[in-house]
Amino acid sequence: MKINNVNLEAVAVEPVGFPEKMLPEVAFVGRSNVGKSSLINALMGRKSLARVSGSPGKTRTINFYNIEELLYFVDLPGYGYAKAPKTEIKKWGIMIEGYLQKREQLKSIILLLDIRHPPSALDLQMYEWLAYYQFKIILVLTKMDKIKRSQVPKHVKIIRESLNLGSDSLLLPFSSETKQGRDELLSVIEDLIK
Ligand code: GTP
Ligand code: MG
Repeated sequence: MKINNVNLEAVAVEPVGFPEKMLPEVAFVGRSNVGKSSLINALMGRKSLARVSGSPGKTRTINFYNIEELLYFVDLPGYGYAKAPKTEIKKWGIMIEGYLQKREQLKSIILLLDIRHPPSALDLQMYEWLAYYQFKIILVLTKMDKIKRSQVPKHVKIIRESLNLGSDSLLLPFSSETKQGRDELLSVIEDLIK
């Protein structure tokens, strides 16, 4: 898939703000700071259309990027940002769950995990929740540039085991810095929306 035309088409905090066009959607889910917005930029070939930050809690709305009038990439706020005020955490939870549960055109979820660490309790909870609701889940392991190439298989194995994944589930190591994994993920997404 070649991506030339992208457009941040909607920024929403509730369903009334979601796009009305019936394009398939792929949503990016993961803890705060794991690299969702960076991944979306890397896929779109844009440096900073999606806002990125070194400190967690950057994305606070649901952002719909129209990709070539073919589909939307949906950037969500992250979970697990413990320093946010409790009322905000609750609000984001309701917003994310509302979107994930009610959106007809949501085709699949890209769940991001940091390749350096075993999944957290919240990651496991999110994975189980998504699996329970029978979402198609693609696991992307971010920040692979931060570990040695030779260590990648070991980290992949640890994550695979903690999620109890069969050998057929896809785990894609990725780096927004080096763009490793980008083409593979784009072709997976292309297959998903066929
Ligand atoms: P929230 O919007 O808070 O949920 O975070 P997010 O998941 O969108 O993370 P974001 O893309 O804002 O990235 C968080 C930090 O991680 C930024 O400083 C990024 O530059 C950095 N980062 C993201 N992906 C990578 C990566 O693949 N490699 C490296 N080295 N840094 C990354
Ligand atoms: Mg973000």
